[in-house]
Amino acid sequence: MSIQQKQTILVTGGCGYIGSHMCVELLSAGYDVVVLDNLSNSSAASIEAVQRITQKPLTFVQGDIRDANCLQAIFTNHDIQAVLHFAGLKAVGESTELPVKYYDNNMNGTLRLVEAMTTASCKTLVFSSSATVYGLPDKMPITEDADTGATNPYGRTKLMVEEVLKDLYTADPTWRISLLRYFNPVGAHATGEIGEDPNDIPNNLMPFIAQVAVGRRDKLSVYGDDYPTPDGTGVRDYIHVVDLVRGHMKALEFLQDEPKLAIHNLGTGNGYSVLEAVQAFERACGITIPYQITGRRPGDVAVSYADPTKAKEELGWEAQYNLDRMCEDAWRWQSQYPNGFNT
Ligand code: NAD
Ligand code: WQD
Repeated sequence: MSIQQKQTILVTGGCGYIGSHMCVELLSAGYDVVVLDNLSNSSAASIEAVQRITQKPLTFVQGDIRDANCLQAIFTNHDIQAVLHFAGLKAVGESTELPVKYYDNNMNGTLRLVEAMTTASCKTLVFSSSATVYGLPDKMPITEDADTGATNPYGRTKLMVEEVLKDLYTADPTWRISLLRYFNPVGAHATGEIGEDPNDIPNNLMPFIAQVAVGRRDKLSVYGDDYPTPDGTGVRDYIHVVDLVRGHMKALEFLQDEPKLAIHNLGTGNGYSVLEAVQAFERACGITIPYQITGRRPGDVAVSYADPTKAKEELGWEAQYNLDRMCEDAWRWQSQYPNGFNT
């Protein structure tokens, strides 16, 4: 099997932040796209925007990945060649309060999906994993062979799904599976027509800063300035969402050669502190971001950044956009749509 233009890709969670950017990239590259999303953390307005940007139609099915009948209908009605699996719940804090909701959605959802894929003999899958599977990493940069671990139920679902998919591949080595471990995706499409649109108070740094800049929030809380880092604040590997989804295109190509299960970090390899991220955002928007230093957030690690060498060597992929560009694009989206897709 080879993945060529005009083949059809199923994007689960395609209305969400990363999935919508993925749809732009796929449609622009000539693929047909079917999106399955239950809109639990997104708006169908993102799909409208994707079609506006690309001037191409896609098929949107509003439904749940845990719904076997819904999946069966999709695989019956469309000749799906590969699945890019973004659908999942991702709020770390909520996952500690509602662990069963996370295990049900992320685990059962993935199990139903691979069952439906098996029935349809569609065995090419790219899974949205996370650097969270490295738990409390003991050395930087993080390579794919580092020890894994989980510090919260969300992270455990990612780790468990990885294990399930490895077992699946061991049992049936005709599968083609890519586990992509994202570092910290930020930024937005260059048009500013799609971007990250958190439902509630943002959990993550960049969308929080963006909402302060646009006047939706008074000030940022910086979670700790006593880490063993140059300025005392946490260091992360922020990666532009467009670079990230281009990594998925490369992963799809990589799976064409032969059946395999592959694991790749998607990060830039550069770490920036919270205060450096604030300064970069200030440069992009020309607005001072008020902040206060508060206590550390439980579960946070001091430093996390990728060794992206494996993705470069095997996928021929590396990130192109720097932190300033990530902030400029995030600001374009936030300033054009101060209230996200509800604007
Ligand atoms: P998102 O919440 O914006 O997108 C996820 C989408 O999946 C949403 O549109 C949501 O409505 C949908 N969804 C959730 N459960 C579903 C279900 N049961 N059936 C159908 N649709 C469902 O999140 P995102 O930032 O785009 O993340 C996409 C994937 O990448 C997730 O699996 C997430 O865990 C993973 N990831 C994200 C980050 C990050 O920082 N954004 C980092 C690492 C990994
Ligand atoms: C970045 C830095 C915070 C918010 C999380 C998940 C991880 C992955 C990506 C999905 C840290 C600091 C943050 C704020 C702050 N998601 N911060 N004030 O924690 O690296 O990763 O998102 O897989 O699993 O854990 O990202 O953006 O929340 O935090 O000071 O209001 O910003 O302490 O140093 P994180 P983040």
